[in-house]
Amino acid sequence: GHLLPGLARARGIDLGVAVAVDPLAHDRRYRGIVEDHYTSVTAENTMKWEHVQPERGEFDWSGPDAVVDFAAENGLNVRGHTMLWHNQQPDWLAGGDWDAESLSAVVHEHVTTVMERYRGRVSAWDVINEPLEDGGPDMRRNLWYEVLGPDYIAQTLYSAHAADPDAELYINEFGIETAGPKADALYALVSDLVERGVPLHGIGFQSHFVHGNVSEDLADQMRRYTDLGLEVAVTELDVRIPEPVTDEDLREQRGEYRDVLAACLEVEGCVNVTVWGVTDAHSWIPEWFPGTDAALPFDTAYRPKPALSGMVDAL
Ligand code: XIL
Repeated sequence: GHLLPGLARARGIDLGVAVAVDPLAHDRRYRGIVEDHYTSVTAENTMKWEHVQPERGEFDWSGPDAVVDFAAENGLNVRGHTMLWHNQQPDWLAGGDWDAESLSAVVHEHVTTVMERYRGRVSAWDVINEPLEDGGPDMRRNLWYEVLGPDYIAQTLYSAHAADPDAELYINEFGIETAGPKADALYALVSDLVERGVPLHGIGFQSHFVHGNVSEDLADQMRRYTDLGLEVAVTELDVRIPEPVTDEDLREQRGEYRDVLAACLEVEGCVNVTVWGVTDAHSWIPEWFPGTDAALPFDTAYRPKPALSGMVDAL
C-alpha cells in the first residue's frame, strides 16, 4: 500500500482514477497502481452510451460490471460516466430519426436502466457531459438540444433522480476552470436549474490542463457552486506537456498537481479529485493532442512521477 488513500480519506475527499476495462482485467501492475493509490474509479469509456447500449434495447453490462465489481472488491467508490454526451454515441442513436417524444423516451429508458442497475454501487453520475460549445458560451447544439430543446438537461436530471434518488447527479464540463465567458455561461445555466429546484447535486471540473497554463482560480470557480449548495469535483485531471518533455517540466508539473489538489482541499464541498488515466502509457493525450504527452502521475514504465509526490504534498 501507499499513503495516498489514507491521506485522502483523512482529508475527507476521494482521490480517483479513470480506468480502462482491458488492462484492469489483464495487467497486474496497472491494477496494483489503482488499488494502492486511489479511493475511487471512473470508467474511462465503458459506461458511455455506445458501449452500454450498442444496439437499441441491447445492453452490454460486461465492461461496467467489471469496473463496479473491481471497485467493490477493493473498497473503492465509483463515479458513473456518462449519460448524455455528444461523443461516443451508437449509430442508431446519433443517426436516428427522432422527434421529441421518441427521443425523450429513449433517453429516459437508457438513464433508468443503467442507473437502476448500479443503484447503491455508483454514488455519483455525470448525467450531463459537456453541455456547452467547446469555446463556449453557447449551449452545444447536440442531438438532445436540437430535438428536445435546452430543457433536455432538466428532463434528464429528473429521470436520473427517479432512477436512483441517492445518487449525486452532476453536470461535467471543461473550460470552466478559469474565469471567462464559458465559466460564466455554465454558472448561469446551473443557477437557473438550482433556482427551479431541478435535482442537480454537483459540478464536475474536467481539468484537462496544459503545463504552464493550469488554472490559478480553480478554487474561486468551485466556490461559486458550493455557495449555491452544490458539491464539486475535479473529474478528469491531466496536465499535458508540449514535447520535448524535460526534467524541469516534470518538476514543475509536480507543483501543478499539488496546486490542483490544494484548490479542492481549500473548498468545502469539493469531494473528489480524479486523474484521467493510470499511466502515461494509457493516457488519451498523445492521441488526442499530438505533440503533447506525460500528462499523468505515472510514466509509461509505470513509475511514479514527481506529480505523484505533488499530490502527497497537498494532502
Ligand atoms: C476520452 C477517453 O479518454 C478516450 O479514451 C476516448 O477515446 C475519448 O474520450 N471528456 C470526457 C471524457 O468527458 O469522457 C473523454 O474521455 C475526455 C474528454
